[in-house]
Amino acid sequence: MAALANRRIVAGICGGIAAYKAAGVVSKLYQAQANIRVIMTHAACQFVTPLTFEALSHQRVLSHLFRDEPLAHVELAHEADLIVVMPATYDIIGKVAYGLADDYLTATIPVTKAPVLFVPAMESQMYENPIFEENKRKLEALGYRFLEPESGNLASGRKGIGRFPSEEAILQAIEEILVERTLFQGRKILVTAGPTRERIDPMRLITNRSSGKMGYALAEAARDFGAKVVLISGPTQLAAPVGIECIDVESAEEMKDAVLSQAPLADIVIMTAAVADWRPLKTSSIKESKLADEILNLALRRTPDILTEVAKKLKGRKQKPLMIGFAAETGDLLEKAQGKLKRKNLDMIVANDLSQEGAGAEVDTNIVTLIYKNGKRKPFPKMTKRLLAKEILREIAKI
Ligand code: C5P
Repeated sequence: MAALANRRIVAGICGGIAAYKAAGVVSKLYQAQANIRVIMTHAACQFVTPLTFEALSHQRVLSHLFRDEPLAHVELAHEADLIVVMPATYDIIGKVAYGLADDYLTATIPVTKAPVLFVPAMESQMYENPIFEENKRKLEALGYRFLEPESGNLASGRKGIGRFPSEEAILQAIEEILVERTLFQGRKILVTAGPTRERIDPMRLITNRSSGKMGYALAEAARDFGAKVVLISGPTQLAAPVGIECIDVESAEEMKDAVLSQAPLADIVIMTAAVADWRPLKTSSIKESKLADEILNLALRRTPDILTEVAKKLKGRKQKPLMIGFAAETGDLLEKAQGKLKRKNLDMIVANDLSQEGAGAEVDTNIVTLIYKNGKRKPFPKMTKRLLAKEILREIAKI
């Protein structure tokens, strides 16, 4: 717990029954020599008294925006190394997601540039409510962090997801954020994401099912780990992440141009994009009539391999970025991925098993094996693309 010593941590306590468990976390933070300041919502004070948290943090608890050190919330937000909100209720997530700031905690969170970690704990129905899920997704895209609750007995007597995590899990998450915030400090990471679109005529095009979720998760995780991130994205439904330079492209050719101009400036290039392998030989400026022929032969031409083009451009340079590729396959996954790693002269390839449920395009989860230049392999179990993005970056950091 060395990373916690002398760090300024603001603990926001909200009105859920797990507020009493949050007291244990505050106590552990104090023991780890963190400088801890507690803010309680009015609802939190219904569950546990401020005195409990004052005794544990050895500092005055802040709760009334107009009574307790009225402008301290600005200072506190600026000085904080991290804000942890526990238990994070359905209400606080909704308020922060919608920009409400009517109490001490919600007036502090929007001011800070420090990472904010939400530790939700609530009834399963609330946690799985689509309104909550949408708010959580919105906040995650903005860089707010979430620690997933556990499954088991809930205060209502029911069983399900929504239990407050253990003290150890929360302390570990806080420590990880503090340490990893500087993992890629001073580094520039280029990420490509999404599909490309190859036009046939003004209406029709060739594309693929890539949603961009894996690439966006990697870009956001790289940002959270302290990197300067450039995201080159084909057309997706995802919102541009905050704090990341986003370059939108459409075709493989446009993506190639953008990557070739950005890659020489990057320390790490991660090619997550599902670049179209072929494009129509000719693009028509008028929409072809379907009345013409029963069978239409569409001539296609191979698109340039962007990774190979980058390698060509950087050949002979002393300082070359670390090159990471993705390989999505439905059979002979590892052999094919290994072949690509060699052919494209990559430092690492992420082999993505499309034949398994919960892996590949569109879904929020993925199942991958990392393959290194020296042939070493590291398989990962099925996990969310967000968690996987962090795992992949931790491996990249080791290289
Ligand atoms: O050869 P394949 O398309 O399966 O290789 C996948 C890897 O190569 C991915 O990292 C992808 O982004 C990259 N790629 C590329 N240029 C292409 C096609 C794929 O850089 N034209």
